[in-house]
Amino acid sequence: MGEKKVTEEKEEAMKIKKTSLVFAVNGERFDLDLSSVDPSTTLIDFLRNKTPFKSVKLGCGEGGCGACVVLLSKYDPLLDKVDDYTVSSCLTLLCSIDGCSITTSEGLGNSRAGFHAIHERIAGFHATQCGFCTPGMTVSMYSALLNADKSSHDPPSNGSSNLTAAEAEKAVSGNLCRCTGYRPLVDACKSFAKDVDIEDLGFNSFCKKGENRDDVLKKLPCYDHTLSSTFPEFLKKEVKMDMSVDDSRKYRWSSPGSISELQGLLQVDNGVSVKLVAGNTSTGYYKEEKEKKYERFIDIRRLPELSVVRRDEKGVELGAAVTISKAIEVLREKESVSMLAKMATHMEKIATRFVRNTGTLGGNIMIAQRKQFPSDLTTILVAARATVKIMRISSNVQEQFTLEEFLQQPPLEAKSLLVSLMIPSWRPLKNGSSSSDTHLLFETYRAAPRPLGNALAFLNAAFSAEVSLNESRDGVVVNDCLLAFGAYGTKHAHRARKVEDYLVGKVISDEVLMEAIGLLKDEIVPDKGTLNPGYKSSLAVTFLFEFFGSLTTNGLLNGCKENGFESLKREAMLSSAQQIVETQEHSPVGKGIVKAGAKLQASGEAVYVDDIPSPKDCLYGAFIYSTMPLARIKSIRFKENRVPEGVLGIITYKDIPKGGQNVGTKGFFTSALLFAEEITHCAGEVIAFLVADSQKLADIEVNLVVIDYDTEGLEPPILSVEEAVEKSSFFEIPPFLKGKPVGDITKGMSEAEHKILGSKISLGSQYFFYMETQTALAVPDEDNCMLVYSSTQAPEYVHRTIAGALGVPENNVRVITRRVGGGFGGKVMKSMPVAAACALAATKMQRPVRTYVTRKTDMITTGGRHPMKITYSVGFKSNGKVTALDLELLLDAGMSEDISPLMPSGIQGALMKYDWGALSYDVKVCKTNTVSRTAVRAPGDVQGTYIAEAIIEKVASYLSIDVDEVRKVNLHAYESLKLFYDKKAGESTEYTLPQLWEKLEEFSGFSQRRKVVDMFNASSKWRKRGISRVPAVYGVSSRLTPGRVSVLSDGSVVVEVPGIEIGQGLWTKVKQMAAFSLGLIQCSTTSDELLEKIRVIQADTLSLVQGSVTGGSTSSEASSEAVRICCDGLVERLLPVKTALVEKTGGPVTWDSLISQAYMQSVNMSVSNTYSPDFYNTQYLNYGVAASEVEVNILTGETTILRTDIIYDCGKSLNPAVDLGQIEGAFVQGLGFFMLEEYLMNSDGLIVTDSTWTYKIPTVDTIPRQFNVEILNSGHHKNRVLSSKASGEPPLLLASSVHCAVRAAVKEANKQIQTWSDNQQGVDLSFDLPVPATMPVVKELCGLDVVEKYLDWKIKQRKNI
Ligand SMILES: Cc1cc2nc3c(=O)[nH]c(=O)nc-3n(C[C@H](O)[C@H](O)[C@H](O)COP(=O)(O)OP(=O)(O)OC[C@H]3O[C@@H](n4cnc5c(N)ncnc54)[C@H](O)[C@@H]3O)c2cc1C
Ligand code: FES
Ligand code: FES
Repeated sequence: MGEKKVTEEKEEAMKIKKTSLVFAVNGERFDLDLSSVDPSTTLIDFLRNKTPFKSVKLGCGEGGCGACVVLLSKYDPLLDKVDDYTVSSCLTLLCSIDGCSITTSEGLGNSRAGFHAIHERIAGFHATQCGFCTPGMTVSMYSALLNADKSSHDPPSNGSSNLTAAEAEKAVSGNLCRCTGYRPLVDACKSFAKDVDIEDLGFNSFCKKGENRDDVLKKLPCYDHTLSSTFPEFLKKEVKMDMSVDDSRKYRWSSPGSISELQGLLQVDNGVSVKLVAGNTSTGYYKEEKEKKYERFIDIRRLPELSVVRRDEKGVELGAAVTISKAIEVLREKESVSMLAKMATHMEKIATRFVRNTGTLGGNIMIAQRKQFPSDLTTILVAARATVKIMRISSNVQEQFTLEEFLQQPPLEAKSLLVSLMIPSWRPLKNGSSSSDTHLLFETYRAAPRPLGNALAFLNAAFSAEVSLNESRDGVVVNDCLLAFGAYGTKHAHRARKVEDYLVGKVISDEVLMEAIGLLKDEIVPDKGTLNPGYKSSLAVTFLFEFFGSLTTNGLLNGCKENGFESLKREAMLSSAQQIVETQEHSPVGKGIVKAGAKLQASGEAVYVDDIPSPKDCLYGAFIYSTMPLARIKSIRFKENRVPEGVLGIITYKDIPKGGQNVGTKGFFTSALLFAEEITHCAGEVIAFLVADSQKLADIEVNLVVIDYDTEGLEPPILSVEEAVEKSSFFEIPPFLKGKPVGDITKGMSEAEHKILGSKISLGSQYFFYMETQTALAVPDEDNCMLVYSSTQAPEYVHRTIAGALGVPENNVRVITRRVGGGFGGKVMKSMPVAAACALAATKMQRPVRTYVTRKTDMITTGGRHPMKITYSVGFKSNGKVTALDLELLLDAGMSEDISPLMPSGIQGALMKYDWGALSYDVKVCKTNTVSRTAVRAPGDVQGTYIAEAIIEKVASYLSIDVDEVRKVNLHAYESLKLFYDKKAGESTEYTLPQLWEKLEEFSGFSQRRKVVDMFNASSKWRKRGISRVPAVYGVSSRLTPGRVSVLSDGSVVVEVPGIEIGQGLWTKVKQMAAFSLGLIQCSTTSDELLEKIRVIQADTLSLVQGSVTGGSTSSEASSEAVRICCDGLVERLLPVKTALVEKTGGPVTWDSLISQAYMQSVNMSVSNTYSPDFYNTQYLNYGVAASEVEVNILTGETTILRTDIIYDCGKSLNPAVDLGQIEGAFVQGLGFFMLEEYLMNSDGLIVTDSTWTYKIPTVDTIPRQFNVEILNSGHHKNRVLSSKASGEPPLLLASSVHCAVRAAVKEANKQIQTWSDNQQGVDLSFDLPVPATMPVVKELCGLDVVEKYLDWKIKQRKNI
């Protein structure tokens, strides 16, 4: 009785209406008048622009990266329970969080209140580099911990959590990180897991390998789940009120609580543009939806009919507003019903957890029904014979259809509602048969670039069937079946009805399957224009074969799996090992200390350019780019010739002030235009810069700009290197950069016993995918000066460019860069026009102007790596020793020079890792009408490595000998190394590659594992393994580098270097070097203590001139060396002071007392100096080797990297933790290049892979399952900075080991297929494996018709018997 009363009271309290939006962010109350809120405002817009909480980063705006993830907590007053889950704030609408509490990373902990254990562990596990992804990662981890502990009655009390290691691995599976390679992030998260094996955790600052588990747990920063309160008490009281607003028609956002209320709203609003919203996640895909100006938004999630979850004997009914995450939970509850559990497993691969948490079933079905979204959900629901309930709001009529019917109907009108869906219980379909011989089968399938999701499927499928043993009990008969396919380039999930009809009543046999496959291939045909149509059709065949193949000899029913599918399951968790030597000689240099600012990055307090609060009257810009490759620009105007409200103007080259030049980059060679003038020379070229009141407005209104083009009288554009050759369209390469021949090619060829002549290979591009896109803020200052904050790797060049564009002396410009959210070469040249455009607009408008370039514009305008075509002839002996290599390269540089003239020498540098006997080398840098290409991490070198390996592989195939032997026989001896690399080769003792090669043999168990791979391949039909080891050689050189070290009166130290902290740990190494060098004064304060006193500050081009560029892997060591020289100067000045002090006091002198004495004596406590390396003596080679083992699924083309072992020579590493991060991160970025990332253009040269939907960088589920790294300490190196070597770029080349291993696996597949072929010669074993070796590429090489070949062979075999 009492209980009922309480409930009634609660319900009564909830009836009070409200007029405002109330929510909490990090415990702080926000109360917004609903009538003042634009309902299209996203949560990230609000957080970043209207609150101090900037940890929420914008990486994509599409739900595809996780940088914006926050924790959303909802309180249920009836159950007195809080639900906590992650959401992507870039897709969540602000109005939809009414009554909710939001927690961001800085809300979990921060520098003032104390960091959270997650922040501390991320720092201690060295799991952050540029730090831009880290706050999102932190929140994803936090949510995993919180929910694991909530679901447990007995959470552990030792500072860990109830999370399992497997769950920890999945916790960040939807978040992208371009820097770390994920392994340390997973380790940081796993360190909380209750079942973690401490030995499995990677290198960290808390404990050493071999320590006792309990001791280690004590050292890890403690996580106390009981302190976690995500929902403030004050908000609970507010939630008791009715969440629907007072007379909702007054507002643009409403949230009706009943269908009749909804009807009222829709009827009154006849003629008004209305949008029904649930999770709003579909705007991540349909971005144009964000730009549409709806007059009203109606949130349908409070409609009770749409939240139904009902299970009874008829089946499971789920309301349309049930989220995908909730649906997974519900379906899992019935574990006994395998169909539901399998559907849940499939649904876990839809998007990412933070999208599934708000994305609803109804939203998914509706975008599939109305817009032909390539949905997974609809395919599996069609196979489950789901039905849907539709309500026509205008007529108040409810209808029920099968989902299949519904999908085929015309798009549901805007004001109708999908109410719910019903998954009927699964019963025998035919004749009510329920004998024990009858089985119900249900399976779902999905092939996608990423196994765990966050990638749309190439094709998905779900099949259900009722089968039984036939009367003679020697076969399986299909009583009924339903075969649904989707996402393959079809309008909707499609049932292969002809195949279904054919199969019903048939006893499954190879012949029947062959017939069914024939019918299927006619039925599953992707629409015209779909990418990889052949691959998609072959996947359909694959899945059908997998489903029925086990039944050919009634195998499944007898518990055996005839066709060898037993191994087609995913394997073990991630593991790793690191062998690292920390040295004491120059302590703290040589120690793996935690990265400077790591905790600030994790909490999100680290300030990036876009986090700087906008100055008063700030304006915002968006780039307008060409979509034509070569055309006259007739006019730039707005649609309907009306300037949209909030737009202040469009800046073009005509706005360049008097005395200024139209210059967007002033780099190493010639400069390039800021804006196209009369003619645009490529699609993606920047034409103008639209300036508006807000970034959102600028990004939206830029789509209303129309460019009128005209091509009359113009030559056709040059869109390929072949056309460039035809028209002799080349950039000049200065002679010293041309690359050089080695030896006598004619002689080398004449010594050859075999030759391959005129072989051709090609390489595509790669996009940087820094998480922080290009951004700058320009603030006009007095006397025609301009202060610019730029996210750049080259402040000095940005500075020069701006001065040139504005026509002012360079001392009128000041460029400041604190840190960069990832650069990878993309923020050298390509950052300049961004800063220059802001500065120009700021000059014109005399107001601050900033821009944060959208991911799409960034991808279209920045270009990426140089694509190239290679023709080679190679001569070699019968043992594989190459005697001569003749290479011709055609590089596509795009429309402007950029750094392209540097490419030939870069390519040659890495290519010469093998002794080619003699080398002739001709490179043409082609000028084409495509977007200008630039430096991307390891520019040229990665291509050089690939070319070298492709040739070695070809030679091995030609001779049919082991490719590892061919590699070995062609590795340099020191003499040939000298011949090829000249002075760069250094002393013979520095040539460690042969040592690494041998060491890897042992480290990776290479020979033994090759045998295991062979055994595996002999017994596995559908999965083949390959193992490969490759060397890498990478030449670097240092540049002139200034530095300044100043000691303040309290003994704290400020260090200025031109090197930019782009995530590579430059600041950390510099700090270590300063501490070591200042420590040489030998006072009682130790170097480690001094470390705490040192701060590296932002780069400022007026404070430190001649800063050049951060790039080429040597900026950290060069900046460190500059600082060391400065510190030496300080020590020299301080020594007499110290000596006098010691004499006076007789005792040890502390650093602080020494400094205060120096201040009293007016010693100059600031030293600036320059590291001016002797060019020839500071060039050196870096060495590394890697062995990778992969497993290729022949049926789908999917590659799993089972294991990678790397040994990398870091000299005497300045900081092995930082270098380890560089090695792993670079390797994984290389993995992206070799395996995943397609950066494609359309026929006009416009980049079309321009989003997270189409461009797939590696995620945690695509890295090596086992990832072992040894950092070799190769001792003393003359001419190196404290004997250290570079680590930023060279390890990227080692990812070619994965590509080579895939080639080996595909070869094994082809050998097997050869045995199934009549024509044994028909299979090419000397194929070239393209880059990237994506699933379609691999599958194509394994044979799109491999299933048919196999069945055909089996049938023939049987007939022969
Ligand atoms: C990064 C990302 C990756 C994804 N990957 C996949 C994937 O691999 N496979 C897959 O299947 N899906 C994928 N999705 C799609 C995702 O499942 C949908 O975005 C989500 O389910 C949509 O639900 P929502 O509530 O957010 O819909 P909303 O965005 O709110 O609505 C979508 C549309 O449907 C309308 N609508 C919503 N509910 C109803 C209703 N009940 N009645 C009538 N109209 C309605 C809305 O008006 C709107 O037009 C992905 C999405 C993202 C963002
Ligand atoms: S910014 Fe929201 S997911 Fe990328
Ligand atoms: S640290 Fe993850 S993106 Fe840079």
